[in-house]
Amino acid sequence: MDKVKFLDLGRQPIANRFLNEEDFNDEFFYHLEVGFDQETMLVTHMNYVDAPMMFNDNYAYRGSMSRTMVNHFANFSSSIRGSLKPECKVLEIGSNDGVFIKNWNKENTIAVEPCGNFAKETNELGYKTYNAFWTTELADRILEEHGQMDFIFSANCMCHIPDLDQTFKAITKVLDSNGIFVFEDPSLLQMICLNSYDQIYDEHPHIFSVTALHKILRKHGLHIIKVENTTVHGGSNRIWVQGKHANRDRTVTDNLDAEKVLGLHDASTYNRFAESVAKSKFDLVNLLTRCKANGKRVISYGATSKSTTVFNYCNIDTNLIDYITDTTPEKQGLYSPGTHIPVITPEEGVDNTVDFAYLGAWNFVEEIKAKERNFYGKFITHVPTVRIL
Ligand code: TMP
Repeated sequence: MDKVKFLDLGRQPIANRFLNEEDFNDEFFYHLEVGFDQETMLVTHMNYVDAPMMFNDNYAYRGSMSRTMVNHFANFSSSIRGSLKPECKVLEIGSNDGVFIKNWNKENTIAVEPCGNFAKETNELGYKTYNAFWTTELADRILEEHGQMDFIFSANCMCHIPDLDQTFKAITKVLDSNGIFVFEDPSLLQMICLNSYDQIYDEHPHIFSVTALHKILRKHGLHIIKVENTTVHGGSNRIWVQGKHANRDRTVTDNLDAEKVLGLHDASTYNRFAESVAKSKFDLVNLLTRCKANGKRVISYGATSKSTTVFNYCNIDTNLIDYITDTTPEKQGLYSPGTHIPVITPEEGVDNTVDFAYLGAWNFVEEIKAKERNFYGKFITHVPTVRIL
């Protein structure tokens, strides 16, 4: 790869590793730098964190903690089911806590999940789940044990895997020649438009454009036939792929054209983005510092991986944020990675003593505003610009 660095997000911890106080001294940090690969047009980290450091038996992120995500996968499942034969074989790669597969029948659906805590959960639910990383070796094993798959789905997982060539080669082994592979991940175009640099953390070694995926998939005889732009996770692309030349929907050309117009093939776009990121940091620290100087109580809403990036890049700790609230049991009672801000339940922490709540989970702003109709304070966001809502 011919990567040129354009962004330095500094010293960062494992984004989803919430800690006990006694673990503070042993915490792992790495240097988060992002580059643009001129050949594949991929936006990717300069160096990758080892996968088992992030995905292991204590993984804290649960997809089903948000009603938005539960509905998103239920709606997609019912929309695609009609176009598949009833007995079709389904594989999900990166099944997390089963938020997607729970919409599918147990007889014909299998899953792959490297995080042992979640693989155990979905196995207990009755879905055969391989507790392993997605590799060509695993693909060979699945082929032997189940044969080829008619439908492969993967959400917020492909962009987690550094070696895309191995990843897509493994797909070609398992996908039936008439099968369909659909995957969704955060959109690079949306990240640039929203200045949402917090999409970048250890688990997201790549932020995908359709342009880069089109090039990389083609090397493996895989072709994008349709692109859907969805609103989840701050703007994602759902990429539909087939193994042979099928009719390409106009959404593919529309997305490639839009990315060209925005300059996603051009290194100067990323240098401008890096300048906007630096300004966002300056503005956010300024706003939070002024809140504090005026005696206001500021908390954070949603202990997200995204807020790990923001807090560590901007050096925001308990001097500026009293605590973080989060609905995930695995995060509650612990401290945020790197900056060690306590995480408590929304029931304990969202009350009328709070003046401002920084939206760590800005991507769920509508769900949160609806849920917190009676919240006395105001929300702060940095997306697309730093402001009080
Ligand atoms: P995500 O942005 O990576 O999906 O993470 C969202 C986090 O925010 C997850 O830990 C759950 C949490 N959350 C809340 O605490 N309250 C909410 O209302 C929502 C929607 C999410």
